[in-house]
Amino acid sequence: MCGIVGYIGARDAYPILIKGLKRLEYRGYDSAGLALVTNSDQLAVYKTKGKVADLEHYVLDKDITGSMGIAHTRWATHGEPSDANAHPHYSQSGHLALIHNGIIENYPVLKENLVQNGYTFRSNTDTEVLVQLIEYIMFTHGIDLFHAVQLSLTQVVGAYAIAVIERNNPNAIVAARKSSPLVIGIGEGEYFLGSDASPIIEYTKKVVYVNDDEVVCLRRDREPQFYNLNRVEKSHRIIELEMTLSQLEKGGYPHFMLKEIFEQPHTIRECMRGRVNVEHNSITLSGIIDNRERFLKARRIIIVACGTSWHAGLIGKYLIESFARVPVEVEYASEFRYRNPVLYDDDIVVAISQSGETADTLAAVELARSRNVFVYGVCNVVGSSIPRRTHSGSYTHAGPEIGVASTKAFTAQVTVLALMALCMARERKTLPQPEFEHLVAGLAAIPAKMEETLQVSDFIKKFSCIFTYAHNFIYLGRGYNFPVALEGALKLKEISYIHAEGYPAAEMKHGPIALIDQEMPVVVVAPNNKSMYEKVVSNIHEIKARKGRVVAIITRGDTVIKEMADYFIEIPPAEECFVPLLAVIPLQLMAYHIAIVKDRNVDQPRNLAKSVTVE
Ligand code: M6R
Repeated sequence: MCGIVGYIGARDAYPILIKGLKRLEYRGYDSAGLALVTNSDQLAVYKTKGKVADLEHYVLDKDITGSMGIAHTRWATHGEPSDANAHPHYSQSGHLALIHNGIIENYPVLKENLVQNGYTFRSNTDTEVLVQLIEYIMFTHGIDLFHAVQLSLTQVVGAYAIAVIERNNPNAIVAARKSSPLVIGIGEGEYFLGSDASPIIEYTKKVVYVNDDEVVCLRRDREPQFYNLNRVEKSHRIIELEMTLSQLEKGGYPHFMLKEIFEQPHTIRECMRGRVNVEHNSITLSGIIDNRERFLKARRIIIVACGTSWHAGLIGKYLIESFARVPVEVEYASEFRYRNPVLYDDDIVVAISQSGETADTLAAVELARSRNVFVYGVCNVVGSSIPRRTHSGSYTHAGPEIGVASTKAFTAQVTVLALMALCMARERKTLPQPEFEHLVAGLAAIPAKMEETLQVSDFIKKFSCIFTYAHNFIYLGRGYNFPVALEGALKLKEISYIHAEGYPAAEMKHGPIALIDQEMPVVVVAPNNKSMYEKVVSNIHEIKARKGRVVAIITRGDTVIKEMADYFIEIPPAEECFVPLLAVIPLQLMAYHIAIVKDRNVDQPRNLAKSVTVE
């Protein structure tokens, strides 16, 4: 939640900051603001409720000169979206400006102390307390900004990535991190900072991921300095980014979400590259091979995740239990972290997260670590917090996902889980060789089948407009496709704001069937796979008997459900366990096209943010 960006160097800071904010807008879009030390040595703070485009409009007649500045795009936690609550916040004297991503938990106590010392507050945010505290400590201790930030943060409880600038010192930005992401870009005589690398990649590929409890000073004329809160200098590792600028652009698509849906054949190929070898019938997942003994002896696997990643985890449970015969539990990270779970030394916790920054998932990782349990990460964003706190793991290699509604990250997560299941099955000898080989070939064939599946987009676009009248949808699926139904419903909810529920198809009779009438669209994931087909046909009969309108996702060539359904979308045949990778695509496209007809902002749906770094 919230995106921060900063620049110090020889160029004009404003264009860099605005472009950076646009790249980070997926993290929050309630309000935006920036602070510059202008060429006339003023500390100019401009901020407004609304999006980055509103901020651009707001500064049209303002002084935006200066080669150093910080900027912020907000997802509101404390205090409603408003001009006053927008960042940057500035200190009582007007000498300091600060941006913050995270939550200051003990802000009431800190604020009370500051009020007693004559400070007044302009906003309802937790953040403002930080900038006032830093100024108070600078004045009372007679120390510089860098030192004052270190000292102030020893009093702070909570999560933060901050950047502070000072009117009287246009040569330094001080930044710090605890539990919220912060990346420093190292240019030639210039430095950048961001919540992720997306605002930086255009200027330099050299970055440093700041560690928890580190404070960084970026000065024009010297190397960056990294210190911990006890004023001990820390070494830092410069990493070369693999991301490219084109991955952050829409590439001719009207929305990132549509681009990301269409990227899936490519991302799944990337995800399997170097891991799947059909000729040799092999799956190589180094995270599992390197920890072979642990995976051989695992008593249980506990998957922790949130949202779409949790849905991927459910499919992972089916895959791992079926192939590798290890019991798997799938937990919401937010529940797991607070319920004192029973954990054994030989358990493995698998944390799934696109962003690698989700606060609840990160806390679940810490809980498992604190109980000496081996933690394996399945993450997309390289260098993010979760992969840095897990013992081992596999990246999903889906590339940057900008649309707030997760699409390509989901299929990449399911693919990694399928690879894990197969790799474990191989090591544990739980699958007969012919079946293993058949599955490896089946998985390798999925990207080409995804390409075929994507051809239904125009058809879905045409019939989606029929459903914009609906206020509710039901999604049904069985077995491997039950989580697909959940995911389809989530996609529709989050971008079209239509209420939707996903259920295991057989559960319908236990309550949801009461909702079905001629107004209710029911999306049924009904591929022609042996184990469930007849049962799903019966469920469709039950819906039709109550006049529900059925949209069926069927296997190409199926004639039975074709006859029964009001609308049908065909997907290519595939092994039952890999059907979710195909069946989810029409559901993503349906959500997208319905949202477009309803004129929703699909890439930045209301109230949401891409990475949820608060609980
Ligand atoms: O980055 P993560 O995968 O940890 O994020 C988890 C959820 O916040 C995320 O999947 C969310 O549900 C998406 N908006 C769904 O499209």
